Amino acid sequence: MATLSFRNVTKTYPGDIAVIHGINMDVADGEFIVIVGPSGCGKSTLMRMVAGLESITSGEISIDGKVVNKLEPAERDIAMVFQNYALYPHMTVFENMAYGLKIRKFDKQEIQSRVDKAAKILELSLLLDRRPRQLSGGQRQRVAMGRAIVRDPKVFLFDEPLSNLDAKLRVQMRLEIQKLHHRLGTTSLYVTHDQVEAMTLAQRMVVMNKGVSEQIGTPIEVFEKPASIFVASFIGSPPMNLIPVQIDDMRQVKDERGAALQIDADLVPAALANRKVIMGMRPEHMALHAPGLPLDVEMVEILGSEQLIHGRHGDTPVVLRCPVGLTKDFPLRLGETVQAGSDGVHALHWFDAATGKRIED
Ligand SMILES: Nc1ncnc2c1ncn2[C@@H]1O[C@H](COP(=O)(O)OP(=O)(O)OP(=O)(O)O)[C@@H](O)[C@H]1O
Ligand SMILES: [Mg+2]
Repeated sequence: MATLSFRNVTKTYPGDIAVIHGINMDVADGEFIVIVGPSGCGKSTLMRMVAGLESITSGEISIDGKVVNKLEPAERDIAMVFQNYALYPHMTVFENMAYGLKIRKFDKQEIQSRVDKAAKILELSLLLDRRPRQLSGGQRQRVAMGRAIVRDPKVFLFDEPLSNLDAKLRVQMRLEIQKLHHRLGTTSLYVTHDQVEAMTLAQRMVVMNKGVSEQIGTPIEVFEKPASIFVASFIGSPPMNLIPVQIDDMRQVKDERGAALQIDADLVPAALANRKVIMGMRPEHMALHAPGLPLDVEMVEILGSEQLIHGRHGDTPVVLRCPVGLTKDFPLRLGETVQAGSDGVHALHWFDAATGKRIED
């Protein structure tokens, strides 16, 4: 068990390739943090710096208050599970799990007891004599977890550990990891580029973009109050609708072409008067045939009990997510113009058009 902290951590690879631009974060003892962001934003680099596999260009990483910048990986008491967890094919499940302890010169009895305990938690007890090729993908993944668990480290690092699994198995393993954390309570950093995985696993999440953390917060905080346009469009599926608007001195909202939209001035923060901003509405927080803006219907996707209505306002695509029953008696025709707006329950979001940052009301 341990706390983990990042102070102005940067990484520049040889050739002046700046990848991480100053990460600051405190992870509490036992916390499960998910780092989410698009490919190439620096997630793995950050993890490798924590593990000691990559040098830290500037700043400090501390474990339990002790700066670890100069410590060797083996001295940091961290265990990692990677996407390519590569079990040793010629070793049994037991030997794979025991290997890390063996090279650390643990005595035989201790190894036996740790592997047995981990195998029990991961439901691998009956598979200890098998070799990796005799296992399913999910079982192999559990062995990889087992290798990390037996070490009983201060911190777990997971770098996209589920991305090799099919969708169904991923959901199942996600639950396993949640149960595991509940049981062991080990401080964990978990990397994924899957926002659903991030939302469901995280106690707090870090949304990364191009080497900076755009927002750190609980999944609900990040969903309800995205700090920037980037976060708003990365978290949520389908992503938030972002509509460029101009607001006059009476807080009347107009579209880019100057046409007035039916948006109640009371919903518009006073600070927005006479500004060009981006108005955000989540697809699931919109209502069909409600005051808002006219949309030309382009496509309707039926998902089962819900549907996605894809439309366009001028050049701006807008998606609504609503119950299928809503249009049962009056089906939408493609090309038809409908009104859609806020459901009256959820607040609108506003972002600065130049900086992309959230404007608080
Ligand atoms: N050894 C290296 N030398 C130079 N640049 C590197 C090196 N390793 C990674 N990079 C660059 O650093 C950036 C971040 O890479 P990183 O692997 O951390 O991304 P990531 O967020 O883990 O992406 P993914 O989701 O694809 O795994 C990328 O632009 C990558 O090309
Ligand atoms: Mg990566």
